[in-house]
Amino acid sequence: MVQPSLVGYGLHRAARRSLAQGRSMTGNKKQVPQSNTEAREAWNRNASFWDKKMGDGNDFFELLIWPPTERFLQIHVGDHVLDVACGNGVSSRRLAEIGAKVTAIDFSAEMIDRARKRTAASEEIEYIVLDATDEDALLGLGSGAFQAVLCNMALFDMAEIAPLYRAVSSILCRGGSFVFSVLHPCFNNPSVVQIGELEDRKGEFVTTHSVKISRYLSPFSQSGLAMPGQPVPHPYFHRSLTELIGLGMQSGLVLDALEERAFPPSHDGGGDPLSWSGKFSEIPPVLVCRMRPAL
Ligand SMILES: C[S@@+](CC[C@H](N)C(=O)[O-])C[C@H]1O[C@@H](n2cnc3c(N)ncnc32)[C@H](O)[C@@H]1O
Repeated sequence: MVQPSLVGYGLHRAARRSLAQGRSMTGNKKQVPQSNTEAREAWNRNASFWDKKMGDGNDFFELLIWPPTERFLQIHVGDHVLDVACGNGVSSRRLAEIGAKVTAIDFSAEMIDRARKRTAASEEIEYIVLDATDEDALLGLGSGAFQAVLCNMALFDMAEIAPLYRAVSSILCRGGSFVFSVLHPCFNNPSVVQIGELEDRKGEFVTTHSVKISRYLSPFSQSGLAMPGQPVPHPYFHRSLTELIGLGMQSGLVLDALEERAFPPSHDGGGDPLSWSGKFSEIPPVLVCRMRPAL
């Protein structure tokens, strides 16, 4: 088992610094991959690294993402669940553990390979290489086939999300739910700069942690790293809440649960004093939502 690590979903701070200066981590604007094809190539190249770091979960996953995700999904034994952009299958295996029958898709064949290797033959998980921007391929999974669809920390990695939303409203059964977690677009988007300030407040030294966001309303794409040491940057596709939730509503889904998640004050961020940790306990880096087909 790979040791859980703290980082693994947030934009890594070194990437942010470089992005704040308007450059990719390679220092060349032209080399930043933006298209879906380039995104897939980046994820294929990062798959082995991601798999080793993510293993069976890190602090972001265990403390911020999984608790509300499991609560929102309300899985019953035997439910058929689609795990969209499953990565190395960390959520797929959790779902199987709690009794779901899982279909897990990712557009990176290398990720799917890692996910299969981590999964025991006894676990009811079918892994498929499938692009979540391909509406027809998603619809091919079956009308009303799923009690729940999960997309864990990946909508911001997708060049387009309208095809997925449209397909979700068709492949979910009546009363089904679409649960997704994302980097909180207001506080943890690719324009974020994390700040620590020390001041002498009338004889008392006080440290304040905050974030600076310079872009929010308009969608934009920018490359970055999910984890320090990641082999190549991959594109992030920022969308405001209006865009993120509105596109789902346009496909006939309604939002019925939402949780903004931050680390508790006691959480030690590990090595980097400005990485997401309890120092930012009033600023949520993660947002978890549930949408359902309107009745
Ligand atoms: C940040 S990782 C999250 C993986 C996994 N859900 C987890 O929580 O560990 C993002 C994943 O999205 C996948 N991805 C990005 N765009 C995709 C698309 N258009 N279709 C399917 N998978 C995609 C990547 O290959 C990668 O595995």
